Amino acid sequence: MLRKVILAAAGSHRVERLVESAPVSRNVVRRFIAGTGSDDALRCSRELVDNGLAVTIDHLGEDTTNPAQAEATANEYLTLLDALHAAELTPAAEVSVKLSALGQVFDDKQAYEHARSICARASEAGTTVTLDMEDHTTTDSTLEILHKLRVDFPTVGVAVQAYLRRSEADCRDLAVDGLRVRLCKGAYREPESVAFQTRLEVDKSYVRCLNALMGGTGYPMVATHDPRLIAIGEDRARWFDRSPDEFEFQLLHGVRPDEQLRLAGLGYTVRVYLPYGTEWYGYMMRRMAERPANSAFFVRALLSR
Ligand code: FDA
Repeated sequence: MLRKVILAAAGSHRVERLVESAPVSRNVVRRFIAGTGSDDALRCSRELVDNGLAVTIDHLGEDTTNPAQAEATANEYLTLLDALHAAELTPAAEVSVKLSALGQVFDDKQAYEHARSICARASEAGTTVTLDMEDHTTTDSTLEILHKLRVDFPTVGVAVQAYLRRSEADCRDLAVDGLRVRLCKGAYREPESVAFQTRLEVDKSYVRCLNALMGGTGYPMVATHDPRLIAIGEDRARWFDRSPDEFEFQLLHGVRPDEQLRLAGLGYTVRVYLPYGTEWYGYMMRRMAERPANSAFFVRALLSR
């Protein structure tokens, strides 16, 4: 119930203004986000990489509404990739990209062109790109763009959301040719017609998707903080005879940092999803919805008005 309320608030500009202006917000935000600028992302990546972790950096921003905004986002990624290369943080650091921030909603051809230039720059920098997955209305377009990009950039990867009913079949299709697939539960508010609604159903779907990915010839990226699913990920890797360099775990920055180090200490590749930028509201609200214990700041911000 609380999850639904918080996800609904994620789409409200009024609530956004209230939360952003609350001083207590900033402390919570700092735990999950590197900072507002690319220098923050670089500094934080350096710390994580020095601790034996890999990184995927997300420039915060979604639902871009005009071409100039989309171009500015693409340019931000190009500059970031140059800086990562210059700082010798590649290939340990890669980037995660939301196609909506590149204009997918109003012009998917333009989003593709921007994604292409980001993939080209990543390739020059010796690193990779992963396409985030957003709400279900964008899944087909994102997978189409993925396949077009892979013709010239075979290392580009994509996220798949276990809560979508279609995802088990998608995972079977995507578990090929070294394709990098990030399996997550899914973070958006989706209708029952397309998505499982209960935790149990989503977890069971996650395991079915995991089986498909681990049993195929792609590169599974097991993105979860769920102790049970992490243990099942380890088990399936053993079952399908995958060595630690044939899959990886991924967790969000600020979530279960001890577990990140524990897994890395066991010899697994552990990649931390590291967001930065000024547009943190939508991202933070999805984190609050996942763990209402984190949302005290949000409630306080509303009550203090
Ligand atoms: P869930 O939130 O159900 O938690 C399960 C259990 O994990 C909890 O019961 C608890 O034991 C433990 N746990 C969770 N959070 C914890 C915390 N803060 N502290 C301690 N324990 C905690 N989504 C999407 O729609 N598109 C995308 O592209 C991505 N990309 C992405 C990348 C990466 C690297 C990750 C880790 C996640 C995403 N997500 C995403 C988000 C994802 O879909 C999902 O919303 C979150 O990962 C939360 O789901 P969990 O699998 O962690 O389980």
